[in-house]
Formats: sequence, structure tokens, C-alpha cells
Amino acid sequence: MASTSAPPINLVEPGLYSHGDPFAQWRWLRANDPVHWHPPGELPGFWALTRYADVKDAYLDHETFSSARGILLRPDEHGADPGGGRTLALTDPPRHRMLRGLVDGWFTVRSVRALEAEMADIARGVVDRALEAGGCDFVTDVAARVPLYVICRMMGVPEADWEHLYTLTSQAFAGGDALTRRVAHLEILGYFEQLRKARAAEPGDDLVSRLATADVEGAPLDPRDVILNCDNLFVGGTENTRIAAAGGMLAFLRHPDQWRTLVDDPSLLNSAVEEVLRWTSTATHIMRTATRPVTLHGKRIAAGDRVVFWLPSADRDESVFDDPDRFDVRRRPNRHLALGFGEHFCLGSMLARVELRLLYRELLTRAPRIALDSTPKLLDSIVVNGPERLPVTFGR
Ligand code: HEM
Repeated sequence: MASTSAPPINLVEPGLYSHGDPFAQWRWLRANDPVHWHPPGELPGFWALTRYADVKDAYLDHETFSSARGILLRPDEHGADPGGGRTLALTDPPRHRMLRGLVDGWFTVRSVRALEAEMADIARGVVDRALEAGGCDFVTDVAARVPLYVICRMMGVPEADWEHLYTLTSQAFAGGDALTRRVAHLEILGYFEQLRKARAAEPGDDLVSRLATADVEGAPLDPRDVILNCDNLFVGGTENTRIAAAGGMLAFLRHPDQWRTLVDDPSLLNSAVEEVLRWTSTATHIMRTATRPVTLHGKRIAAGDRVVFWLPSADRDESVFDDPDRFDVRRRPNRHLALGFGEHFCLGSMLARVELRLLYRELLTRAPRIALDSTPKLLDSIVVNGPERLPVTFGR
């Protein structure tokens, strides 16, 4: 259903995601201009894909839409992404498959099930601590801790260092000024460099040891590639899950009937987690670079052009989801793209689902009267969207 009154389109203004309504722009683009040329400004120009089917098709065509030149928009003056051609997320097949094959055994249903009891203990401990305080910032005190402790455990970070990495992660990825973020991220990379050296000398049964001792195409992985892939796993393992867990909680607080439904019938937890993933779609944009010319809905995309998938838009596509702007813990089917699709489908998808389920299960039984304490603050970012601060009380 095409409409003529176009809203001003600017998807790269970070304030849109903290104070504006990106869904109005995406709705208009889906209906009227599904392959939209977004002109250059501080960021380079790109083609914006907003429909579910187009995003899914492009995801499946990794030969035309490459990841190796970066998967996030960045200013030209920042140069090429240092992970380009080196990390799991930023390589194309066949190298991508080799890198993924090194670590994917840790993320299978079976491996995640084997960790489930430990993950449940972690979720319980985090909720205990928050309940004792009577209230908290759900983002930093609850949602950030569960995935961080779990990925630390899988990467072989000694438990004594978990709080240190928690502090660094909070500084690097959870708001704050650019310099503080950068310094903290460099410290995280430095930490993994030390851990890499230790594990290369004395390997254990963990992800860092696996990467530090791996052979790819008959040669050991370059130490720089080990660090960059550790960073990919660590950031991948923490950031989106933190925001999805908090964004899901915010959705429940704004739709108390859905929380009540879940409190009354926890057997709906699995479908509720899928709806949280769809609703939050925390990875706001994912970029590819065209390797050859291609025409889509009459628009000619040239080789070398950036093509950007807007996942929250695809996940509200009215031609795929009934009543897409309704948050519904019973929604079925729910084949959202929040975890990507195809070759680069989220490695930690199973882990993320179990973490969300265990955390909400704990809260449903122990904090069913959770309530908003004051106005939440949303992230100012075009990369990830969701709460930066979510003050809650637990009631009685
Ligand atoms: C709710 C939580 C999560 C969301 C929404 C999410 C989202 C995504 C998305 C959209 C992609 C695809 C990127 C692309 O198409 O280029 C992806 C890839 C990836 N995710 Fe997640 N993720 C989550 C949790 C996790 C966790 C817990 C881990 C654990 C390590 C993880 C690790 C990764 C890695 C390593 C990749 C790159 C895979 C590849 O390129 O083959 N993610 N994630």
C-alpha cells in the first residue's frame, strides 16, 4: 500500500533510536521505496533494504553480498575495519567456514545443554543480588551480567577476572563518551592478548585455547587473528544479549498483560523468548558490500556499493507477521531475522535463547511484581538499539 507523504528519511541519526520513531520511516520505506538510496553524509552512502523478503534473499546470496569489507557502517576516514578478512563475522566462504568450524562445537544444542545447569546458577546468583538490593538498573545489574559471565566461562577467563571484564565491558559498550569507550575496548583486547599467550603455552578446554592452538589451511592462526576473533566472540556474546534481555523486560513492563500471561503459564517461555528477539531486534543494521552489479526492485546496485539490512524493519514486515506492532508472547509462527540468516547466522543463537529463557524464568518466579522505577534511557546508536538504563523495583 504505497503512500505519497514521505517522512524525512534519515536512518543514521543516532538520536532517532533514543528519542525518535524509526518505525515510521521503515514502514514508509517498506511500502514505497524498499531499496532506498541513503545519500552520504558523515557516513558513506548506502542502499537501505527494509523488507523481510529482500533482507532474507540478500542474506542467502553471500557471493553477491560480501561481509569481508565490514558489516557495520563506519565513516570513510576511519579506514577499513581491522577485522576485515580476519574474523568470523568479517570473512566470506571458504575462509569463513574454516574459522566457524574451529569454534562451532561450543555452540551446538548439545554443548549449550551441557552448560545449562551452570548458566541457571549464574542467572540465579545475578537475580539474588538484584533482589537483595530491592531494585536496580536492570541493564547493568542483571542483563549485562548473565551473558558476560557465561561467555567468560566458555572462553576460559578465570572467575577472579570476571568482575574486571564486567567493568571494562560496561565502559566499552554501554554508553559513555567515545574516549572512555575506546580505552576500555583496547584494555579488553590487551586482556585477551595475555590470555592468548597463557593458553598457547598451556592449553585448556576453552574457546581461547582452541583459537590459540588452531591450524587454518595448514598454518597456525596469526596471533592478531586470534585476538580479533576472541573480541568477536566476546562482544558478540555480551552486547546483543544484554540489550535484548533488557529490551524484552521493558516490553513486558509496557505490556503487563503479556507478563501476567507468562507468570500464569511459564510453558510459554520459549515462544516468549522468540517474541522478545523479534520485538527487540537489537542488531539495528547489518551491512554487506556488493561484489557485482545487481538490480533489485528496479534499482541498480553497483559493485562496491554498500547494502544495509535494517533488521527491526524486516521483523515488523506486515506481509510476514500478523499485526506486527503487537507484542505477543504466544506468536506463532515467528521466523524473525533478529539473529541474522544464512552463512553468518548468529553463532550464539542457542546460547542467547537459553540465557534469555533462564533469566526470565528466574524473574517470573521470584520477581513477578517487577515494575518500572523511573523513565528508561534508550541507547543513542545506529548499531544496537534498546535500553541503556532501565531502573526497576521488585515489589513485594
Ligand atoms: C539476543 C542476542 C543476540 C543477537 C540479537 C545476535 C545477533 C546476531 C546477528 C544479527 C548476527 C549476524 C551478523 C551478520 O549477518 O553479519 C550475529 C552473528 C554472530 N553472533 Fe550473535 N547475537 C546474539 C547473541 C550472541 C551470542 C550469545 C554470541 C556468543 C558468542 C554471539 C556471537 C555471534 C557471532 C560470533 C556471530 C558471527 C557469526 C558468523 O559471522 O558466522 N551472538 N549475531
